Amino acid sequence: MLLRTTLAGRAVGPGNEICGLKGELSMKQRIITATVVAALGMFASAACAADGGEALFKAKCASCHPNGGNIINKSKTLKGIKDVKKITSKIRAGGGGMTAFDAKNVSDADAKLVADYIIKTFKK
Ligand code: HEC
Repeated sequence: MLLRTTLAGRAVGPGNEICGLKGELSMKQRIITATVVAALGMFASAACAADGGEALFKAKCASCHPNGGNIINKSKTLKGIKDVKKITSKIRAGGGGMTAFDAKNVSDADAKLVADYIIKTFKK
């Protein structure tokens, strides 16, 4: 799980090493990359194809917030939130049953990506 999360973080980060190098690789590197991507399975290809916010959400938030809901506290869903800061600050603070994520776990840029994804995806 730790490995998967770490890889997920890398696959979608701005300095993306798996997806970002496409096109500049030698044939041999391409084969290796393809193998790594295949080994990561659908998750990695989804991370490459989808916007980073979606992949991060799936990796770090969806376990408790499937479809923008909340399996622990049903009154605190992610639906209809309009304020990026409400989300980014909750990511750092956690509490009330939610994990707090520090900058090593979810960078400021990633927190913003996830917040944008939540706002545009879970409108109601
Ligand atoms: C371990 C389960 C868990 C995980 C993982 C989790 N959350 Fe939460 N989240 C909760 C719970 C429980 C609450 C209600 C907290 C409270 O009462 O203050 C909550 C509340 C929130 C709220 C406030 C909702 C509101 O209506 O006030 C936001 C925003 C939020 N989570 C975003 C996220 C994001 C973004 C992630 C991923 C980076 C995430 N959560 C990961 C359990 C989780």
